[in-house]
Amino acid sequence: MSTPTAAAPTAHPAIVSWVDEIADLTAPDEVVWCDGSAGEWDRLTTQLVERGTFVRLERKPNSFWCASDPEDVARVEDRTFICSRFQADAGPTNNWMDPVDMKTVMTEHFRGAMAGRTMYVIAFCMGPLDAAEPKFGVQITDSEYVAVSMQIMTRSGTPVWDRLIAGTEFVRCLHSVGAPLYPGQADVPWPCDHTKYISHFPEERTIWSYGSGYGGNALLGKKCYSLRIASKMAKDEGWLAEHMLILKLTSPEQRVHYVAAAFPSACGKTNLAMLDPTLDGWTAETIGDDIAWLRFGDDGRLYAVNPEAGFFGVAPGTGVHTNPHAMATLERGNSIFTNVARTDDGDIWWEGMTDTPPPHLTDWKRRDWTPTSGEPAAHPNSRYCTPIAQCPTVAPEWNDPGGVPISAIFFGGRRATTIPLVTESRSWQHGVFLASTLSSETTAAAAGQVGVVRRDPMAMLPFLGYHVGDYFQHWLDIGTRTNAGLLPKIFYVNWFRRGDDDEFLWPGFGENSRILEWALRRIEGTAEADETPIGLMPTPGALDLTGLKFDHAKIAAALRVDPTEWITELRLIDEWFATIGGNRLPDVLREELAALRQRLAAP
Ligand code: GTP
Ligand code: MN
Ligand code: MN
Repeated sequence: MSTPTAAAPTAHPAIVSWVDEIADLTAPDEVVWCDGSAGEWDRLTTQLVERGTFVRLERKPNSFWCASDPEDVARVEDRTFICSRFQADAGPTNNWMDPVDMKTVMTEHFRGAMAGRTMYVIAFCMGPLDAAEPKFGVQITDSEYVAVSMQIMTRSGTPVWDRLIAGTEFVRCLHSVGAPLYPGQADVPWPCDHTKYISHFPEERTIWSYGSGYGGNALLGKKCYSLRIASKMAKDEGWLAEHMLILKLTSPEQRVHYVAAAFPSACGKTNLAMLDPTLDGWTAETIGDDIAWLRFGDDGRLYAVNPEAGFFGVAPGTGVHTNPHAMATLERGNSIFTNVARTDDGDIWWEGMTDTPPPHLTDWKRRDWTPTSGEPAAHPNSRYCTPIAQCPTVAPEWNDPGGVPISAIFFGGRRATTIPLVTESRSWQHGVFLASTLSSETTAAAAGQVGVVRRDPMAMLPFLGYHVGDYFQHWLDIGTRTNAGLLPKIFYVNWFRRGDDDEFLWPGFGENSRILEWALRRIEGTAEADETPIGLMPTPGALDLTGLKFDHAKIAAALRVDPTEWITELRLIDEWFATIGGNRLPDVLREELAALRQRLAAP
């Protein structure tokens, strides 16, 4: 092998020596420094087609179908590690291993792991390149799938190399699918290893990922960098890295508000990010669908930036009725579909795309599929990967280096009971308390059966790079750094409450615009609210339900605060807070809980 650094597009000494060191360890046949160009996309996608990983879709321009190994379909939380120097800093919600021990173990996995393959070196930037402090990363990978996906999901290639001059900070992202190819050995469409490690070294701003090709495990700019490592950077530097969508709303009077919302995975972020408002005269535009970085502007307000350049969205359930804008985005092509089904005429299909499935498909396991097959044709976590820039509702500001000023933050989970449709917090501190108790239940619950409730604070449980108690304190501290009046108002929502008949008590999707409208009028001081034990809620008649064809008794039920349900909820919150550990749970959250108990007149 020729020396990999001869062709390096950067003179950054730390990058060059790191690439040399990793090439020595992993022993690839070749090292390619990615330029992020259209020519590179064509070359790599053609190679992926020739090798049987991709199938070119005849019905979507420049788009590809792909099926993973059936064991490599999702994030692997039990194989995800926060390797801080001290175990106490990873906190009770993360797996931890000593960083030296982890590197020793993983080095042996990486040794020779790229044999017979090409090592790609990808320079990327999370957020606009012309930001005041652009956040760079360099990912080494032996996966062409990862290389082309990173072109969609991040700003990458030559413009980033040009900025990576000596001394520039960057996050080291090392990835291998862990499937060396020995002479004479045939490749498989989706190489990966049964053993997987997704390891983060927060103090060193380093990520090592081994054994998986799935997006959340392998596209290291996304969850690994922009949430786990960035949450730690944000704690150190006084900002927030959050699992939030960013949405621009314009009222009929042409007043503009930007809002952010945090919901756990598969609880509606991408849907709300591309909202099609049913309320007359309102427009919604998309800025981000998964991650928001929030920093204070000079005016003391919190500004949000979407660090990504693509959507990596859940496919099933996406259709012209639920998310027409996502469908229109995909129609424009330039997309990668993983683990969806393929139609006989070279298009894609998944459950929920149309009411009736085509008579014949190739399913995500590459088998013949018909409506009588008895299994879903697409994996429930199948995903589309597509550029934000081609979304028909993208707001021009999506690329603004300074971000957009946030008026409101919404937190919500999937709860069949207890949590009302919408609650406004009394203060930043009360809002942080509500968010710290956020929860969501398993979705596969049989009719009538109550799902398993899991706490997912701020929708960040799988994405926190440090101790959850310190994270709560950080949120509280953020609230003291500006005038209370400049902070976003915090709301708590639940689109998923169900009635005794197990039907949703709220129609959701585009109708959620009615909840956003009430929240924005609360901010502007023109909407009424009632005090309740858990927070402020719309007075009867305060929600604009004009033209809504939905049983109003159900909506009233969606808004109910049921003291009996809340007694149970208090016990669950007690249990959750007890797991955090006394000295790291901020006292004010314990006090908020005590005050809630008192307002509910609970024992
Ligand atoms: P990640 O990308 O994994 O972080 O998830 P996400 O939060 O972007 O989830 P997504 O928007 O893809 O939501 C997926 C699921 O939520 C689908 O089953 C949708 O049908 C459902 N969903 C989204 N919005 C609503 C809503 O307002 N009401 C109801 N009932 N379901 C919704
Ligand atoms: Mn997500
Ligand atoms: Mn999403």
